[in-house]
Amino acid sequence: MLRRIPIKRALMTAAIVAGIVVGQAPAASASVPLKAITHKYVGSAVAAQYLANEPDYRAVLTREFDNVTPENEMKWGTVEAVRGQYDWSGADAIVRYAQATHKTVRGHTLVWHSQLPDWVAALPADELRRVLRDHITTEVKRYKGKIRAWDVVNEIFNEDGTRRDTVFRQKLGDGFVADVFRWAHAADPAATLYINDYNIEGINPKSDAVYDLVKTLRRQGVPIGGVGVQAHLSIQYGFPGQYRENLARLTKLGVDVAVTEADVRIPTPADAAKLDTQASYFDQLWDGCQAVRRCVEFTTWGFTDRHSWVPDVFPGEGAACLFDENLQPKPAYLRINPW
Ligand code: G3I
Repeated sequence: MLRRIPIKRALMTAAIVAGIVVGQAPAASASVPLKAITHKYVGSAVAAQYLANEPDYRAVLTREFDNVTPENEMKWGTVEAVRGQYDWSGADAIVRYAQATHKTVRGHTLVWHSQLPDWVAALPADELRRVLRDHITTEVKRYKGKIRAWDVVNEIFNEDGTRRDTVFRQKLGDGFVADVFRWAHAADPAATLYINDYNIEGINPKSDAVYDLVKTLRRQGVPIGGVGVQAHLSIQYGFPGQYRENLARLTKLGVDVAVTEADVRIPTPADAAKLDTQASYFDQLWDGCQAVRRCVEFTTWGFTDRHSWVPDVFPGEGAACLFDENLQPKPAYLRINPW
């Protein structure tokens, strides 16, 4: 904390001099937005429907962040739920918004076993390979030049570091990973291509497996440029051990790292003590990224407790975001950004 303040002060001064600071925040809000206190990208997952229908949601997103990640709009199950029938409406709206507000976009996600249409999972191997290549090429080309980074493969490991037994692995073998990076790179050579996963924040068998795979792929000349550390944490399980060391070791492989989906869930109802623990977790996540030169992005999985995936998936837990349901900054936000 003590070491951080002078850096933030200097950045804030620079931001004010550059005229970046806007004075339109609600009274309870910090006067300097998150995106102005660091030179890294600061993002949030976003849902097109809230962007379209909730002006206060849109205003806070616009004010605080300079990267957006479509929460569901670019997933296969959204863009081509029925074979040959594409729905780009949500993805297009988010990309248009990002361009209009000068934000970058993290594309999420090209190859994932979840939210995968049944028709894809049912294909025989040779057809699956052709369809997968088409899916990647079509989607990446559609947004060519408008996506800074793509989550190319998502969640391909088990907790013990073995490969998850997905339909892609069963039918195409482990080599599909190298192939999909090559196809994505051919479609947009300028985008940075990531592998993304959860429970790889600290050093453990799963992050060891990611480390080993990235090392192998780099040696083979596969165009992988980054590792996305999702950072879905819970105050019940302790802060991941050796987080900063893990980020640093990954960057030594010659890739960027990004915190891609940060949230810290709480057994509800939240109280002051739980919110304080949450603030400490968010602060450690933030500081670790700030401390590692090639940690290029800090993105949260949504920014308001009004809309979060957590209560649906973990009944009895929630309040996982930086802003409350009324879009007021929580202790976690104020710990990261006291300005
Ligand atoms: O859009 C339909 C709607 O038409 C329908 O009425 C409703 C009924 O349940 O479902 C809606 O779709 C839901 C979708 O979110 C949009 O709200 C899906 O059922 C639901 O499964 C889906 O959940 C998403 C989840 O990924 C599914 O895989 C969450 O919003 C999203 O936050 C979550 O995000 C994942 C990342 O992609 C990868 N890492 C983990 C992270 C959290 O699980």
